[in-house]
Amino acid sequence: MRLSAYFLPTLKENPSEAQIVSHRLMLRAGMIRQTGAGIYAWLPLGQRVLKRIERIVREEQDASGAQELLMPTIQPAELWRESGRYDDYGKEMLRIRDRHDREMLYGPTNEEMITDIFKNSCKSYRDLPKNLYHIQWKFRDEIRPRFGVMRGREFLMKDAYSFDLDAAGARRAYQKMFLAYLRTFARLGLKAIPMRAESGAIGGNLSHEFIILAETGESGVFCDRTWLDLDVMAEAPGFDDDLERFFARATGIYAATDEKHDAADCPIPADRLVSARGIEVGHIFYFGTKYSKPLGAVVAGPDGEPVAVEMGSYGIGVSRLAGAIIEASHDEAGIIWPDSVAPFQVGLINLKSGDAACDRVAAEVYGDLRRAGVEVLYDDRAERPGVKFADMDLIGVPWQVLVGPRGVKSGVVELKRRATGERAELSRDSALAKLTGPA
Ligand SMILES: Nc1ncnc2c1ncn2[C@@H]1O[C@H](COP(=O)(O)OP(=O)(O)O)[C@@H](O)[C@H]1O
Ligand SMILES: [Mg+2]
Repeated sequence: MRLSAYFLPTLKENPSEAQIVSHRLMLRAGMIRQTGAGIYAWLPLGQRVLKRIERIVREEQDASGAQELLMPTIQPAELWRESGRYDDYGKEMLRIRDRHDREMLYGPTNEEMITDIFKNSCKSYRDLPKNLYHIQWKFRDEIRPRFGVMRGREFLMKDAYSFDLDAAGARRAYQKMFLAYLRTFARLGLKAIPMRAESGAIGGNLSHEFIILAETGESGVFCDRTWLDLDVMAEAPGFDDDLERFFARATGIYAATDEKHDAADCPIPADRLVSARGIEVGHIFYFGTKYSKPLGAVVAGPDGEPVAVEMGSYGIGVSRLAGAIIEASHDEAGIIWPDSVAPFQVGLINLKSGDAACDRVAAEVYGDLRRAGVEVLYDDRAERPGVKFADMDLIGVPWQVLVGPRGVKSGVVELKRRATGERAELSRDSALAKLTGPA
């Protein structure tokens, strides 16, 4: 992509409405624009990041055996009356009437709808287990939308729903999601700690929130110091392995949200306890027959007797993650994208646009990288080098390639790693090999 043609409205000044760094940087880097309270348009750069995050989420869901479908955003009120949540949900639910005066709503979550879809097609224990997910926009009319995409009213969520014949099956489904979540967040460059969370209502007794530590986090959290330098992924089994041991290990290291933490009854000594703030990026939940019973999701068991299916639901805040990743990875100059979610892998800077030799070499490097399948943002604008450096640092592309008059003469380009600021002069071929070769 040539920057001269790209829609990238960056801002020099800090927008006054943004209270936290990720919100500031997303606005400044031209990723998002607010269109209403808690509602955002994702501009091309932001949309690229969202797609990258979605892809990793999707790959891990698929690897765990979950199957993707797509449910609508608009739902009939009727379904929610059956589960009893239509009234309970209160003002957070955006209620709509269509031209026939039918009551509809913009879905804040999809337990009712997926249960209805499931029950209409699955009638036997042989149809189990199933785990179905989608990545879809949700609307919750939050009282206090804030911090940009971190607490929006409209936001993108991956939500999965598992169906099993019995509690043991549901537990296995839960553990698979638990593993998929740890893998997903690790691939996104995040250290997400699973914390015992309030499981609230009827039936369920298993619930974990996946939380990354950040000063700007909305939840108070407590965890064993061990979490800080633990690489759980190094110990992670495959999805088809026995997951009990891994689950016991990961949940055995103390971590709890302030709702669950009880200072008087804390199992670890004070000097090992970290008290911090955290951002909830995912939440998994086993709730048994809470929805299958009222909505009639019943299958015939092996002995022919009807069984209400055991369910769980599993959410990841896909749009929130874009902000959360920035909270975890930035510096004074701007965003530092982990390679896995970067909107472009390489930012190519022509230090002297208009100079025939620089233009030629930069265009050749651009062509070479693109042919090698690398996504490149080529800053070909007639701007001062300082402006180009600042913009490229701001948007946080992991590698920068600098083409300038001096290097062009001696046949080298400069390669800069955004995260460390390290720079090296390399021949064009070595630079290309480094950017296209194995990491
Ligand atoms: N208002 C919001 N804005 C952005 N992301 C949200 C919002 N509410 C929830 N999420 C994301 O969706 C995930 C699943 O939602 P859920 O646990 O049902 O929400 P909550 O914890 O607010 O009740 C959360 O872990 C979070 O990452
Ligand atoms: Mg939650």
